[in-house]
Amino acid sequence: MTSAKSKPGSLLIKGGHLIDPAAKINAPMDVLLRDGRVAEVAPPNKLRGGADEKFDARGLIVAPGFIDLHVHLREPGQSYKETIATGTAAAAAGGFTSVCAMPNTAPVVDTAEWVAWLRHPERGAVVNVFPIAAATRSSRGAALTDFAVLQRAGAVAVSDDGKPILDEEIMRAALRLGAELNLPVVQHAEDTRLTEHCSMHEGPTSFRLGLRGMSAAAEANIVDRDVNLAQQIRESRLHVAHLSTSDALKAVRRGKRGIHSARVTCRVTCEVTPHHFTLLDEDVGEYNTNFKMNPPLRSASDREAILVALADGTVDAIATDHAPHATHEKQVEFERAAFGITGLETALALAITKLHREHKIPLTRIVELFTAGPARVFDLRSRGSLARGNFADVTIFDPKKRWTFEAAKCRSLSHNTPFDGWQFTGKVIATIVGGRVVYRAD
Ligand code: DOR
Ligand code: ZN
Repeated sequence: MTSAKSKPGSLLIKGGHLIDPAAKINAPMDVLLRDGRVAEVAPPNKLRGGADEKFDARGLIVAPGFIDLHVHLREPGQSYKETIATGTAAAAAGGFTSVCAMPNTAPVVDTAEWVAWLRHPERGAVVNVFPIAAATRSSRGAALTDFAVLQRAGAVAVSDDGKPILDEEIMRAALRLGAELNLPVVQHAEDTRLTEHCSMHEGPTSFRLGLRGMSAAAEANIVDRDVNLAQQIRESRLHVAHLSTSDALKAVRRGKRGIHSARVTCRVTCEVTPHHFTLLDEDVGEYNTNFKMNPPLRSASDREAILVALADGTVDAIATDHAPHATHEKQVEFERAAFGITGLETALALAITKLHREHKIPLTRIVELFTAGPARVFDLRSRGSLARGNFADVTIFDPKKRWTFEAAKCRSLSHNTPFDGWQFTGKVIATIVGGRVVYRAD
């Protein structure tokens, strides 16, 4: 959580165009924030209350604070890659007011003590941090952690991200326990029995480069199995992390159809990353390790299926899988390089440039994928919408602003991005957490 410094006071965001999909608002609105909450939302110049400060939002989109369901903040233990302070500063610059932190740290976040440590004000977070705790002890996949204790300490979900929960009986037990506690189980869907020593997607590019490739089936098989399991367990909640293949989407659609039948009450949700809706396996080029991540960049038909699913509502959230790594972990042979890229500071720009401008997905849907969608997936109460009384978390952006992303200038401690030098349309102008401006573009 954000540290409680001075009282936030009141802030009037004036003259902007509000997009709040959960509240079904897409219109010019003024927004008044007071004492860390949304005090009032009203058409231009109709607000009654005054404010200590004003923010001129003319020409800008005002949205509920963005929520990222999947980031790697690297603490405890790997502060040479990122810290909670630098990672949340990057989040703020990317318009995210809340981030969910994956537990594949050193040590793994598998106890209540580590969950509490992550949330402590001393970590210096500038946006809200919601811990995701490990689903199994040390994420070894063998014995479940104590979900109830972890949830009480503040974990919003459980996951062994970086690795799958491969054993079917362990996954069934995780979904059962999650169902009892109303806690989502987040699966990194990869059949690692099929992907050993693989470093990219299996296809013509892996063949050309002489690299062992991960098949699309290695992802889809696990999603398929997990959806089957979820459908056998009442009230279970399965969330598929960084979904990247067309076949996995088919399984998710099957899982979602189950929601509407009287018999099956499971909730199946999924997230997609900006790099998977933007790039292809062939972009790896000549062994460029800034295009190496897991799941890998896929084929054109996978990307096409993802674009359709983003537009039609199958995908619940855009999540970055922000995975910072140090230079020495990336500037090595492709097969030895670490999996993962940074993503917090380019997510909105990619969504606007690619999804909105190129593929004509409406801005309202894009905002939903960053706000109401993710808030629902993890039940983040009083967030994801600027309804009166909700937390005063706001993202303000300019959907028309052109700019060039420079990795050297980013807030993240690591610079392992494939988007260095890219020209974007769409820029975050200000990020407000609990009524306080934590980022402002210069
Ligand atoms: O590319 C990835 N990097 N995928 C993961 O699942 C883990 C992540 C990391 O922690 O670096
Ligand atoms: Zn993962």
